[in-house]
Amino acid sequence: MSSENIDNTVSSNIPVITIDGPSGTGKGTLGRQVARYLNWHFLDSGALYRILALAVLDRKIPQDDLHTIEALAEKLPVEFEFGNDHWQVLFEGRDVVSELHTEAIGHLASQLAANKEVRRALLARQRAFREAPGLVTDGRDMGTVIFPDATLKIYLYASPEVRAERRYRQLKAGGLDVKLSQILQELAARDERDSQRLIAPMVAATDAVTIDTSDLTADEVLAKVLELVKERV
Ligand code: DC
Repeated sequence: MSSENIDNTVSSNIPVITIDGPSGTGKGTLGRQVARYLNWHFLDSGALYRILALAVLDRKIPQDDLHTIEALAEKLPVEFEFGNDHWQVLFEGRDVVSELHTEAIGHLASQLAANKEVRRALLARQRAFREAPGLVTDGRDMGTVIFPDATLKIYLYASPEVRAERRYRQLKAGGLDVKLSQILQELAARDERDSQRLIAPMVAATDAVTIDTSDLTADEVLAKVLELVKERV
């Protein structure tokens, strides 16, 4: 999103921690843990794009009917709540977390996310999650576009091979018959689309702390981030 298109006026003292990076780096798990640790609100911005994709498919909205898709995006009825021992993603009050991670939803979400009008429609929706005492959020452009004034910005990195391997193990454990080579190919295609798009491409903010998680366990990444939280927040 070019700077003339977005409102970067910031009038909030409510602290925000942003965690950006490609899929499979563990930013969602990390974000949820940090939000729980601080007892802050949480926004998984990728889930917004995924829920939009789910609604488009569910309601059989033609994918080129951007007018309807934008109107839906502006008012997307989504909440993130910790309940029943896990973070729930409530869409119209229903927990849809188990429906969001299919390849079809991921693919459509990434296509919708490349559209300028869709991103504009979701901009205010995302900023509305900034409520006291604070917000932890993860995505691709949280530190660059949505919350440029964030208190602490993290960018998680991991090699495509490591990320594909993690996803492969996750899917296998869930009983799915998948091929590592295909996962790697799909992941590379998604990275390419997310980082090469003209608006709000996936990139580390200049003031972000980059952590390479390729050789770290989730607990080691969490420990590093909590140290930064204690120093800066
Ligand atoms: O993080 P994820 O895989 O759940 O995100 C789904 C898609 O949404 C991903 O392909 C990129 C897009 N996305 C985005 O463009 N900007 C964000 N802040 C978050 C996600």
